[in-house]
Amino acid sequence: MTIQWFPGHMAKAKREVSEKLKFVDIVFELVDARLPLSSRNPLLDQILQQKPRLVILNKADLADPQQTRLWQGYFESLGFAAVTVNAHDSSATKRVIQAAKLALKEKIARDKARGLKPRSIRAMVVGIPNVGKSTLMNRLVGKKIAQTGNKPGVTKGQQWLRSGTDLELLDTPGILWPKFEDPDVGKKLALTGAIKDQLLHLDDIAIFGLDFFARYYPGRISQRYRLTEVEEALPAAEMLMVITEKRGYKDDYDRGSELVVVEVRQNKLGSFTLDRYEEMGVGSGETRVDK
Ligand code: G4P
Repeated sequence: MTIQWFPGHMAKAKREVSEKLKFVDIVFELVDARLPLSSRNPLLDQILQQKPRLVILNKADLADPQQTRLWQGYFESLGFAAVTVNAHDSSATKRVIQAAKLALKEKIARDKARGLKPRSIRAMVVGIPNVGKSTLMNRLVGKKIAQTGNKPGVTKGQQWLRSGTDLELLDTPGILWPKFEDPDVGKKLALTGAIKDQLLHLDDIAIFGLDFFARYYPGRISQRYRLTEVEEALPAAEMLMVITEKRGYKDDYDRGSELVVVEVRQNKLGSFTLDRYEEMGVGSGETRVDK
């Protein structure tokens, strides 16, 4: 697989996030609730060190609520504050601000005890492309922020965006890169649209998706594509052939693949979580977050 992030980009992105850390009280680490581990950056712990962190599980509207609860608990068990949001929903602002205040409550109390005037919380948003950084920032500040594109290294003067009286955000998010070493991570990112479709073959992504749904959400594929139970139990590549044919695409499997991938992304097969909490070696207090 071609990797879209080159060492130069990584070093630059890392440097920029590190440089901005000193300006903020807290970092908002955005992850996609459908892949709370796979959409993280493995080096973030190194970059952020002891900086207070609020992990925001965004796109919670698209994820499996039971898994989202488990993942939220996981991040809390690591000592981070964590909150689940849907950046398209107006409740996101209140939820994020409340969670940030809670995460910083000791600092806020300390400042108060020292007689310091209360001031708004200063934060920066970081995350891999497509987790919803711009959408959430637009929501928090109530206007459309400048588009940075999914490129690290867009530097501008330091500017703050105000969210009510409680929060100020650095105007540009820190854009990180996902981890690609594990081929399954690449497929998960592709299935949710986090990485460009050209990076993997569409049929591989569709087959991966069908296999996943048949395993974890049985019945959904047969319901959506009117398959029999026996057809849903077929190996995913064969299932794809059946779906393609039933849709009237004859043997145009590219078209069948596109249909499946697009519909998974549109949640036509229901909400889902690709990173399974029980299977990622994180449930027993042991963590697999790469340092
Ligand atoms: P980024 O800055 O981190 O790169 O992500 P961005 O905000 O551009 O969001 C990527 C896509 O995810 C956008 O969809 C956006 O609408 C969608 N999105 C962001 N947050 C949420 C959420 O909480 N729930 C849902 N369901 N979707 C979310 P798009 O189709 O690429 O763009 P658009 O047509 O919606 O603008």
